[in-house]
Amino acid sequence: MDDFIFLLTDNEAKYKQIYQQLKALILQGTLAMNESLPSIRKMAETLQVSRNTTLTAYEQLVAEGYIRGEGRKGYFVNALEQVFLQEQPQLVLSQPQRDTSPLLVDFLAGAVDQQHFPIKTWRQMANQILQESPCYQYGEMFGESSLKEQLAQYLLQARGVYTNSENIIIGSSTQQMLLYLGFLLKDDFSSILLEDPGYNGAREAFQLHNFGIEVLPVHEAGAQLDVLNNCLARLLYVTPSHHFPYGASMSIQQRQTLIRWAQKMNGYILEDDYDGEFRYTQQPFPALASIDPSRVIYLGTFSKSFLPGVRISYMVLPNDLVQPYKIRFTHFEQNASTLHQRTMARFMAQGEWTRHIKRMRLTYKQKMQHLVQELQQQFGEQVTILGEQSGLYVLVKVKSSLSEQQLIQQAESHGVRVYPTSPFFLRQASVEPMLQLGFSKLTMEEITLGVHLLKKAW
Ligand SMILES: Cc1ncc(COP(=O)(O)O)c(C=O)c1O
Repeated sequence: MDDFIFLLTDNEAKYKQIYQQLKALILQGTLAMNESLPSIRKMAETLQVSRNTTLTAYEQLVAEGYIRGEGRKGYFVNALEQVFLQEQPQLVLSQPQRDTSPLLVDFLAGAVDQQHFPIKTWRQMANQILQESPCYQYGEMFGESSLKEQLAQYLLQARGVYTNSENIIIGSSTQQMLLYLGFLLKDDFSSILLEDPGYNGAREAFQLHNFGIEVLPVHEAGAQLDVLNNCLARLLYVTPSHHFPYGASMSIQQRQTLIRWAQKMNGYILEDDYDGEFRYTQQPFPALASIDPSRVIYLGTFSKSFLPGVRISYMVLPNDLVQPYKIRFTHFEQNASTLHQRTMARFMAQGEWTRHIKRMRLTYKQKMQHLVQELQQQFGEQVTILGEQSGLYVLVKVKSSLSEQQLIQQAESHGVRVYPTSPFFLRQASVEPMLQLGFSKLTMEEITLGVHLLKKAW
């Protein structure tokens, strides 16, 4: 089809109207498989909009798989599944304007890349596991031995933590394990020191146990460790390898300071190593638990490195806490799936885990670089990017008269979702509005589109 006349109104971004109307034509079958679309230039001229506007609409259709670009030949309609065609949405030509915009790009941090997920291998292994008799009974109370053995090897090799499967406890999530730990620790420890800003999911778990909360202020460059000299708490929860949310890693000197403090106080450090696998500029730093395992409760999760939906996390207890923990929870069944645990054990034993981490580190590194580049190109000095060395998100500080909430709303009205950082702050607040942008589940095209839309929004 060569010509399109769309009615474009001023109430909504033009690229969005073009995108919606083309999508409707494709879904209705008016634009058939392999049919060519007008060139960007032609479409822009016909509709009296800029080429950029048309390009943004086309890029979104490409990202969603409705059309494909074939270099100089132009853009063509892709084949759609029959079931998809049955959606039959209304053409928006004669419809009243909707006041909510469709979500085009979601910078959600709590997700992983779907395209590179080893679905075939995982499915095959899960099928094998399901044919084995241990799957037809309750699993081991503190986690499957096969997985704990694999974890002990992995922790030594990747995080420098020397442990054995007796000290490892498996659970369904970090929060769940913090809740259990709370039951164990609250008789001897009435308060806990928490990073500010810090992971609100952990804070909630400690608050539920009525721990007194003291704060360890953290700045962009790192934690203010002199606070340790004057605090009453003997428990400390930290994210030393990748501070949540700022992203800084603690130096070896800072780690040693923490360990000396815990030794002096006869206390414990809860080390949350939630995404220590993904460090892009250097080797991941050894965990705190590698320095003094008797003073550190190490917490790890598969939620970032593998799949949040698999719901497997783990912790390494210091020797002194192993028996008290096991006695305390003797009558509690394991709450992580036995099937997933056993599948993960096999996945690790056959070398798939190492391959997966290597692949994902590269994939995420490329996505991170792309996101940072796009943000720098589009916004220049208007934004400051934090935490681009590691992890699956960045923080973006925006020089703007708008508040965090207003920036989020503006973005939403342009079809992009970004996330607040204010819930992570306890006593201190960020001076400039700061947003969290996760990129793990987005394609490169979606990242480009998302940042372009943010530029329009802000
Ligand atoms: C610092 C931190 N720790 C742990 C988690 C979650 O881990 P899990 O899914 O095992 O509860 C998150 C999730 O975003 C996190 O940000």
